[in-house]
Amino acid sequence: MKKKLLGLMLAATMAVGMLAGCGGSGSADTAADTSSDAAATEAPAAEAEAEAEAPAADAGAASGDLIKIGFAQVGHESDWRTASTKSCQDVFSEANGYDLQFVDCDNDSAAQLEAVRTFIESGVDYIIIDPIVATGWDTVLTECSDAGIPVIVIDRTIDDSDNYTAWVGSDFKNEGLAAGEWLKAYVDAKGISEVNVLVISGSTGASAQIGRSEGFDEAVAKYGWNKLDEQTGDFTEDGGQEVMESYCKSYAGKFNVVVCQNDNEAFGAMTAMDNAGISYGPGNDVILISFDACTAGLKEVQAGKITADFECNPLAAPFVEEAIQTLQSGGSVDKAIYMEEHWYALPDAIVDFSIDGAAQSMTEVTDAVIEAQY
Ligand code: AHR
Repeated sequence: MKKKLLGLMLAATMAVGMLAGCGGSGSADTAADTSSDAAATEAPAAEAEAEAEAPAADAGAASGDLIKIGFAQVGHESDWRTASTKSCQDVFSEANGYDLQFVDCDNDSAAQLEAVRTFIESGVDYIIIDPIVATGWDTVLTECSDAGIPVIVIDRTIDDSDNYTAWVGSDFKNEGLAAGEWLKAYVDAKGISEVNVLVISGSTGASAQIGRSEGFDEAVAKYGWNKLDEQTGDFTEDGGQEVMESYCKSYAGKFNVVVCQNDNEAFGAMTAMDNAGISYGPGNDVILISFDACTAGLKEVQAGKITADFECNPLAAPFVEEAIQTLQSGGSVDKAIYMEEHWYALPDAIVDFSIDGAAQSMTEVTDAVIEAQY
């Protein structure tokens, strides 16, 4: 995988800091990639190789002062989100020279727009947004640029405006494609000819949901699988359990693959399948696929419950800080910065597969891998 890091040395320094601060994330594997071949398929709408024209940061961020940052976070729905929030709070600490205004928007898009407007009113130097949904951003982003405040988008993408300075996150469609191509290789290896899939998707309209669904659906169409249903579990454990309970009633005996669009949904689905007496995991009746690969998710891979887990790396904050420091010193930054991600399984489920001709490697889940994860 090609790496074109933004300020390689600084990024490496910060990655080391993050390993210490968050318990690490796979040694040198925690990296951002500004090339789109790390996630080789569809780039977010706003992706550009060109460097961004950022509004100049306000004088309030003059040297010696704390840099004021407003962060409108999605909510607290998952283990992944907890790791993302911690990463930002660790990096943008007072000790590091920042005054962080953090708002947990509790998955409420209106509250998130309001939070951004409050940041503008309070005259922050930079705004970080993790957009709950991908659309509806044009007006408020114009207000940010009119106020001369650079906006850095993290994790999920904004699809209806490119009026922001930079985005740091994951290629969700590539994650969905990876899950689909892995499944094809796995069922072929196991001699499973019928694939009947149930999907528990993430929050509707979030780019993480849209991309993972699009990517996986490509494989469904390509390989002629039977997708029985897709309903949202809102990226939560309760949501995953509720949807799976209803699936267990409606599709009893009819499915052999469950795709959960994050680990927390998978935990809920596992409870529902346990209660319904359905076996899952490698060698059992149901193949269980998950995304995120947080520590708790990898433990379930190791326990033989989740068959394969496709990482979504939440540790964007060091790369956001690097972008901010570059802007502070008058430089320009890449418009799109991709996090590097890995695909996890136990040896029996590690199979060769590729995405659009690019061979993928899988990581075996071991104690050390789990220990190093967020
Ligand atoms: O946007 C990233 C997604 O949001 C993660 O997969 C999920 O866990 C979170 O809630």
